[in-house]
Amino acid sequence: MSESENQLIEQATAARVRSVAPFSKFLVGAALQTDEGKVFTGCNVESASYGLTVCAERVAIWKALSEGERDFARLVIVADTEQLTPPCGTCRQIIWEFCKHATIVLANLHGQKEEVHIADLLPRAFDARFLREARQ
Ligand code: THU
Repeated sequence: MSESENQLIEQATAARVRSVAPFSKFLVGAALQTDEGKVFTGCNVESASYGLTVCAERVAIWKALSEGERDFARLVIVADTEQLTPPCGTCRQIIWEFCKHATIVLANLHGQKEEVHIADLLPRAFDARFLREARQ
């Protein structure tokens, strides 16, 4: 049985408290569900060399890809903000490339949630099609 949206939000919320965010103290959790219902969670992991920080979404995506998964149905992102936290620009690019068909669910700790789609968050995206099209 595949997880319901609320169960996925619970899993992302549980992942969020495992965040390693000593610098920003901004905790984010993610839960990525495959088409077959498997779930991979992620949290943000910060580095003292700030730019090496990895967002919760990408941690979940890297975990799933490295386990051989390729087809994703849903990506939940949970943060403790009134205005629901959307993925950053880097994550939008990665979501476009690897989770294009997934419904993205933004949620907070107060039960608010919203479904969005990557094509709306990242219009006119760059991807491998352009590399194939380039003249040699
Ligand atoms: N962060 C995420 O993990 N996901 C987002 O969607 C937005 C930002 C993290 C990165 C960094 O550890 C902290 O939040 C502050 O930017």
